[in-house]
Amino acid sequence: MTDVTETKTVTDTENGQRVTGGNRDNQSQTQGPKAPGREGDAFLQVRDIHAYYGESYIVQGVTFDVRESEIVALLGRNGAGKTSTLRTIARTDTPALKHGEIWLHGVPLHRKRSFEAAQEGVQLVPEDRRIIQGLTVEENLMLAQVEEPKGWELEKIYHHFPRLAERRKQDAVTMSGGEQQMLAVARALAREIKLLLLDEPYEGLAPTIVQEIERILEGVKELGITTIIVEQNAIAALHLADRALILDMGEIVFDGTAQEVLDNDDLRHEYLAI
Ligand SMILES: Nc1ncnc2c1ncn2[C@@H]1O[C@H](COP(=O)(O)OP(=O)(O)OP(=O)(O)O)[C@@H](O)[C@H]1O
Ligand SMILES: [Mg+2]
Repeated sequence: MTDVTETKTVTDTENGQRVTGGNRDNQSQTQGPKAPGREGDAFLQVRDIHAYYGESYIVQGVTFDVRESEIVALLGRNGAGKTSTLRTIARTDTPALKHGEIWLHGVPLHRKRSFEAAQEGVQLVPEDRRIIQGLTVEENLMLAQVEEPKGWELEKIYHHFPRLAERRKQDAVTMSGGEQQMLAVARALAREIKLLLLDEPYEGLAPTIVQEIERILEGVKELGITTIIVEQNAIAALHLADRALILDMGEIVFDGTAQEVLDNDDLRHEYLAI
């Protein structure tokens, strides 16, 4: 695994703007984040993360907090770095995190690999949904539960996703796009979940299906699952979310309430083209 502190000096010099980064690092390494659970404390703390695809410098010093049970919309134009930020938090091999820290409820995700992050309850639902070919709906769900720690039982999943219950014996890849998206979310819930990372859950879906997925996500919200949602359909995401972050060229340019973005035409025109 990449030592995230190894390239710090270089990164700091390259940027010439993160002069306090070293202090922050030392502090968090010796003390960790504030004890979790206190009011106002962040459940997820993303601290000055820098991530690269090879030489390509993409996530350029992103910092934000997410409180427990909060839904945060991560927005921005195509290529802004939204997927890369989610992947960095989920600790996928690419992009490589070279500097910065990610704390989930006191756990240093920046020191973990993706399977360890998953064991800690980080569940990424990627844009392509990764439905496994040749398996039924139920087999896809059961496969998610092969390894500990398990999340929801099948019965509970079928209760919340009646459409999947109807199609439990169907080859999952023959389902509609919307149904496959439901399965992708359900499969994340079949694992123990502390942080749900949704990458464009409405992508390519007809408006009526979007509404159906929205209802499911409202249900997820009521269950208090801490979620980051990336979505091109910014308005839909903002209606679901409590807070919004806007990314532009790998940097956070706005961090505030979802309502502030809905109310601010200039901000939406400039960064979201809506
Ligand atoms: N595997 C990769 N190798 C090299 N560059 C990549 C790779 N994946 C993404 N990038 C680049 O990183 C930048 C950010 O991409 P990312 O996918 O994070 O953007 P995004 O905000 O999710 O965009 P979109 O809204 O189009 O999904 C883009 O310039 C993209 O070309
Ligand atoms: Mg993307």
